[in-house]
Parts: sequence; structure tokens; C-alpha cells
Amino acid sequence: MSFPFLRPRRLRATKAIRDLVAETSLSPSDFILPVFVREDIDKPEPIEAMPGQYRFPVGDELVKYVREALELGVKAVLLFGYPKERDEKGLVAARRDGVVQRAVRLLRREFGEELVIFTDVCICNYTTHGHCGIPKRRKKGPIEVTVIDNDETLKVISEIAVSHAEAGADFVAPSGMMDGMVKAIREALDEAGYSDVGIMSYAVKYASGFYGPFREALESAPRFGDRRSYQMDPRNALEAIKEARLDVEEGADILMVKPALAYLDVISLVKDAFPEYPLAAYNVSGEYSMVKAAAEKGWIDERLVTLEILTAIKRAGADIIITYHAIEAAKWLREGLPF
Ligand code: PBG
Repeated sequence: MSFPFLRPRRLRATKAIRDLVAETSLSPSDFILPVFVREDIDKPEPIEAMPGQYRFPVGDELVKYVREALELGVKAVLLFGYPKERDEKGLVAARRDGVVQRAVRLLRREFGEELVIFTDVCICNYTTHGHCGIPKRRKKGPIEVTVIDNDETLKVISEIAVSHAEAGADFVAPSGMMDGMVKAIREALDEAGYSDVGIMSYAVKYASGFYGPFREALESAPRFGDRRSYQMDPRNALEAIKEARLDVEEGADILMVKPALAYLDVISLVKDAFPEYPLAAYNVSGEYSMVKAAAEKGWIDERLVTLEILTAIKRAGADIIITYHAIEAAKWLREGLPF
């Protein structure tokens, strides 16, 4: 039997042909820009472990930054707050005049419905202990142990979510990996009259070393222990389907896998299991800072590598990418993809 001599290289011969047959596209409208807002500062503070990223006071500089993103076609932000005081339960996060609530109002007033506003809903950056749930001591037979009180935490994050909705958020994004968080927040939002406010759930979030720079940005590293009793074990992929399914059943509008780059297989798995749900992938701080560090050393071409990473995340199955590179990538994309 003789086979024809097949020449797949024909489809790679020129840039125009490659563009024509490309399977994946990347656009600024796929991106969500994470933004840090801090109470009690009066000018933007650079975040050392995340070159090019800042903590913004709620004011003109924040508006300018978000306007730049919008003008480049990045139409969504995800807000994280750095409060001036922290407490044991994270109740400060639900204050009507909290830093995130004020930032949401400012951005909504400024940009109307042109901007999609997501808010992170968690207590780790609002608590003295830095955990995403409220710790409590409990007797386990003859010994005493510290556990994270799942259901007590649900009450607090529900209040936080309602306060963000009241300020004008489009979507709240619970990130604490507490069981039942989507259901609790959905019920609280509906009861408070915010049935139109959506939930982007950090459904599949791993206990990852790649969050290091972010924890510096918000000083949110746990003061004792680690997050492995609530965030997922990096060894597990099938468990992602279970977590995503629960959040779908509880009413999530958008699912998320986090981190992105080291979990492309998980992105693909979740997209295949729930193709009808928009899937976001969080290209996290450590993934961003590794690229920045290597680029600063002159070891990689930042534009090429970043656009390759973002394309890979989409190719794996993500519809939306949360990335600190959003503004720069949008600028680079004006010249098209470099492939
Ligand atoms: C926790 C939270 C984390 C991130 C966002 N929200 C991680 C963590 O500290 O466990 C990480 C984002 C990043 O690394 O860019 N509520």
C-alpha cells in the first residue's frame, strides 16, 4: 500500500495562511484585570514582588488606570481590597464604606455599564490570622485542634457579597473554597434583592505556591498553618469535576480554575465536563512574576512568552483569562499575535 506524501507544512507557509487556519484566538475582551485597592494611602504603591502592579487609593489614579484598560478593550476588572484594620472574623470586609465598596461606587459612577465589575469575596485579606475561613478551637476526643469553621464563614462572606452588590458590582467572586459558598451567597443576594448580580466561583482552586507574590501584595499569608484543608491538592484532577459540579448545582454563573498555567489539564477537563458554562482561568501572581523576573534578566522575550501563555490558556479551554498582564497584552495585541 502506498501513502501519499502528506505535507502539513503547507498550512504553515506564511503568516497569512497561519492566521487563516488558527484554531485559537486571543482578544483583550477575553481578559479580566485584577486591581488592588488600599485604604488610607494617597498615591499608588508599587508591589515589589509583582513588577508593574500597584495598590491604588480609591481616587483619580485608579480611574485613570481602569480607563487605560477600557480604552485598550479590556472591559472587566476584579477588585481586591487592602483594609486599614483587620479583625478575627473579617467583618470589616462587609462595611458599606469599605475600600472595595467605595472603589466599586467610584468606578460605576465613572464608567457606567461599560465596565464589568467583579469583586473578590474572601476574608483572608481582612483577618488578623490570614485564613480564608474563621478558625476555632475544638475538642477532638482527648486533644484540642484548630479547625476552620466552614458554616460560620458562610455567614460573613454572604454579608460581604451583599455589600458588594449594594455598591454596584456585576459579579461577586468567592475565593475561599468553603463548602456551600455559592449556595449561601446566591440565597443572600436573592433575599437582599440582587437576583441580577452574578457569581463567578473560584470553583477549582488549588493550594498553590504560585500565590506567593499576591500574598505579599495584600499581606494575606496565613499567620499559622496553611490552606490545604480548604484549597485543593495539586495531585488531583478528577476532584475538579466534583468541585465544579457542586458550584454549578449551587448556582454559579461562571466557573474558574486557578492557577492556570500549571493546571492546563484541569482547565481542559472542566471545560469538557461543563461546556455550557463560561470558564475563567486565573493566571496568578507567581505565574506573572516568573515571566517578569526572567524578562528583567533578558532571558526571555516577555511579549512572545506572555502571548504564548495566554493563548495556551485559551487553547486549553478557558473563555476568560484573569491576568495581571491584561493591559500590556492588550497593547501587544494591537500588532496582532506574534506567531
Ligand atoms: C484568596 C486568594 C488568593 C488569590 C486570590 N484570592 C490566594 C491565596 O492567598 O490563597 C491569589 C491570586 C494570585 O496569586 O494572583 N482569597
